[in-house]
Amino acid sequence: MLLVCGIISALSYRNDISNDLISALERLEYRGYDSAGIAYLDNGNELKRIRTVGKVQQLKEAVEKANVKSHIGIGHTRWATHGKVTEFNAHPHVTDGVAVVHNGIIENYQDLRKRLISEGYTFESETDTEVIAKLVASHIKTGKTFLDAFKCAIAEFTGTFAIVAIYEKEPSLLLGAKRGSPMAVGISPDKQSAYIASDAVALSTLVDELVYLEEGDIVVVKKDAQLSYEIFDASGSCTNRQVVQNKVSLNDVTKNGYETFMLKEIFEEAAVARRTYERFNYDTEVAKYDNISIIACGTSYYAGVLSKYWIEEIAKVHVDVEIASEFRYRKPVMRKNSLYIFISQSGETIDTLCAMRLVKEAGMKTLALVNVDTSSIAREADYIVKIEAGVEVGVASTKAFVAQTLSLLIMCAGKSAVHIDDIEHSINSILNGNYDFAGLANKLKDSRCLFYIGRGTSYPIALEGALKIKELSYISAEGYPSGEIKHGPIAIIDENVYTIALAPFDQYFEKTVSNTQEILARNGKVLLITTEDARASLHGLDENANVECVFLPKCETLYYPFALTTTIHLLAYHTAKAKGYDVDKPRNLAKSVTVE
Ligand code: G6P
Repeated sequence: MLLVCGIISALSYRNDISNDLISALERLEYRGYDSAGIAYLDNGNELKRIRTVGKVQQLKEAVEKANVKSHIGIGHTRWATHGKVTEFNAHPHVTDGVAVVHNGIIENYQDLRKRLISEGYTFESETDTEVIAKLVASHIKTGKTFLDAFKCAIAEFTGTFAIVAIYEKEPSLLLGAKRGSPMAVGISPDKQSAYIASDAVALSTLVDELVYLEEGDIVVVKKDAQLSYEIFDASGSCTNRQVVQNKVSLNDVTKNGYETFMLKEIFEEAAVARRTYERFNYDTEVAKYDNISIIACGTSYYAGVLSKYWIEEIAKVHVDVEIASEFRYRKPVMRKNSLYIFISQSGETIDTLCAMRLVKEAGMKTLALVNVDTSSIAREADYIVKIEAGVEVGVASTKAFVAQTLSLLIMCAGKSAVHIDDIEHSINSILNGNYDFAGLANKLKDSRCLFYIGRGTSYPIALEGALKIKELSYISAEGYPSGEIKHGPIAIIDENVYTIALAPFDQYFEKTVSNTQEILARNGKVLLITTEDARASLHGLDENANVECVFLPKCETLYYPFALTTTIHLLAYHTAKAKGYDVDKPRNLAKSVTVE
């Protein structure tokens, strides 16, 4: 069924490709971690398969136990949206010596399944992927070569997908097809192994150079006297695609001494801000448009919400911010002289991509604010602004949010008006400051539910703070404008509910503080995150037994969102840790959502 997954495959002169498959799957785990599997040809070219439910570690143990010796294989880590998390549903899927892994959806799989059942095939899984293996196998049965059978099958599918396949009777051939979901191919520097994978992260440490496939491409990797690959475009013609450096380094995909990727990535926030600032050289001129529409999902959407405050105040341009999955299914009225900005860390989120296509079809200008400049969203946009977050592995986005918001601030204020030293210092003062976030998290962790409140630019940070708590701690958390809490949510407040109030000493401080009084009057508990210069204006609030206070260093009001961001990220991290959860791989989530 619908999947957001990671794919790796290898063809080699060596006999130990299972090591490469497993190490790549470990790096790909951020794309899905419900179940994982590999299929490979053993020394006698017999097709074997190992699948496990759970994280890649389980698969690794099973593969080690099986003492796999193989020169060709495919691997997959899965994130299911429907079709239960079972070994039967895990990839690879195998039929008559054909093994496939797949990311995306085969939309016409029900019709194909019926046809294949009438041909005598029986299905063991609930997935659409099994249709792929069976359709390729059924074409082989009619006398076609593996490659021709694969091409015929691909031509029959509707939907978006990335597929890799092997066949036991053609043990020197690895095939891949890309439509909608990303796919890259590369050969190792020693020319001993070739790989097809769903992203550059999987291929880091394996190849220095790679080629990203284009829409409709089929790639054929062959092992003769030497390893080579050919790419056929959507019309079937043999084509060349640009070879690019694999920019993902070992440092990007290792924890570097940190306990988790998320903590490492939060501690990179100051450096990411600096790098994004220094490399920013786009002439985006937002002020020349009458209207700006920002469209995104998740954390990227909240970066857009924050930028609305800045763009309207500084550039004086009207801004709409929309959730991509809603935008694309209503009938949006596109305004003349508008710029449409699509924010996406991965550049692959399907709702954001489809919303962008809709806008392009209407003839409007599109700008992609992305972390991955080879991504689908980056490739299809009219303009690109690349953030310099580096590879983000933790499933919950952190450092990318900092880079996104900073880029948006530079886009509206201009580079020279943004003081990166102050921003960097502000973030570092949280990272290196003497704050007991773990102690505070211990107080938050048993809250029945949580509210995050703020006004002005603190409100979008409250939204991001609540999202992070939900994602990582599984505590129901809502971000709310401080002033709105009395219009309903206050009914939930009692002594078992914590409200985290973001109230730096800015023009909204007094108002947010008075909203916390309303909460305290209903026996709610409050964690007030404010700034040093507010101490004298608290009027005893910090002495209330139901109030905890955190004082961040004073800085220019414009830059408070950065200090607050790092603070809420650390709070979410410690709350999840206090609950004993896996912060890098929170349950039910995936980093890059390439399905609707
Ligand atoms: C998923 C991730 C979030 C991310 C969102 C949008 O839900 O878990 O962390 O914010 O997708 O992703 P994008 O890559 O488009 O920014």
